[in-house]
Amino acid sequence: METKIISLDPTGFTRLDLEEAVYLMQNGEIIGFPTETVYGLGASILNPESLKKIYLAKGRPMDNPLIVHISHMDMLPALVKQIPERISILCDRYWPGPLTILFEKSELVSDLVTAGLSTVAIRMPANEIARALIRELGEPIAAPSANSSGKPSPTNAMHVFNDLKGIIPLILDGGSCDYGVESTVIDVHSNPPLILRPGGITLEELQEVLPNIQVYGKNQKDKALEEKPSTPGLKYTHYSPNAPVILLTGTNEEIQAKLQKTYLQYKENQSKIGIIHTHKTIELPILISQDQDTYVHSLGINKNELIDSQDFNAALIQQGLFAKLREMDMENVDVIIVEAISEKKEGLAVMNRLQKAAFKIL
Ligand code: TXA
Ligand code: MG
Repeated sequence: METKIISLDPTGFTRLDLEEAVYLMQNGEIIGFPTETVYGLGASILNPESLKKIYLAKGRPMDNPLIVHISHMDMLPALVKQIPERISILCDRYWPGPLTILFEKSELVSDLVTAGLSTVAIRMPANEIARALIRELGEPIAAPSANSSGKPSPTNAMHVFNDLKGIIPLILDGGSCDYGVESTVIDVHSNPPLILRPGGITLEELQEVLPNIQVYGKNQKDKALEEKPSTPGLKYTHYSPNAPVILLTGTNEEIQAKLQKTYLQYKENQSKIGIIHTHKTIELPILISQDQDTYVHSLGINKNELIDSQDFNAALIQQGLFAKLREMDMENVDVIIVEAISEKKEGLAVMNRLQKAAFKIL
């Protein structure tokens, strides 16, 4: 199968530009499309055959459920048993946007979407192309991230193409994604409410509405909660480029020392080294910065900022993270050394993905 790419201007596309995508989806095909978080691989939730194709195309385990995407609040009631007041408040505030909320599912939602669970994960994407596609199709779209299972999520159309060429007929190219990590998945049926997957909407933002919300698997005081099965996707390997990722943690001084030590270890074995450098406050050791064979990618540094500014930008790191991991693979490095950042705001999602990608945490 040939994989076609249609480029759309996110601010100037028309219904006609979406015709082929809608036609394909109506005829049981799955397609790649942009969202504000990462690219999705979409199928109508009403077509079991296309839903099956999603799992096959990605090599995704069948017990990992999909997120349902809607374009308008009108689509919600048919998908769920009820819309509790506390969830309406969240929808009003964060939709359209990168927040996925669990609901009790209605009969309309098949087990192929929810992997047999009684809940369905739903979000309304902020990306205009994504919402227009759902609106034109006239049906909610189930969509996981459009990567091969286990790879970093795609944040531009070429990433999707690299993973799924020959497997899907069409990718809508809407440019690079604004957020660069997936949506935040929350469960407000539990007490306290839980973030099952940190993502585009930060913990700090959610705390404004849900002051007692907690992050699943982190700082939890309640043992029973810890033992509760979490979001099924969390148990699988994720976000891993081909080369092993080594994550360096600690104070700036500790990270700098670990960087030098790890670099020298791999250099001794003549490995091709990739470094993702995230702190402006950490100077790269001279021997690394002068090594022409080592790939150093800086993340989170706004080129327009003054060179001596002390802070770094977690949102920029988040936006570029998956793309940098993929670039390192393209350069065929043997190891990727990444510096940890603070878990404040966007840092929580960044560190969540890095911890999952990591082969070793030092
Ligand atoms: O930003 C996003 O969420 C992107 C874009 C395309 O919308 N989608 C995405 O989908 O990241 P995916 O399939 O890669 O991740 C969905 C996550 C998985 O961890 C899955 O286990 C969880 O959501 N999930 C889906 N339905 C669930 C449910 N009923 N209960 C618990 N977790 C669920
Ligand atoms: Mg995914």
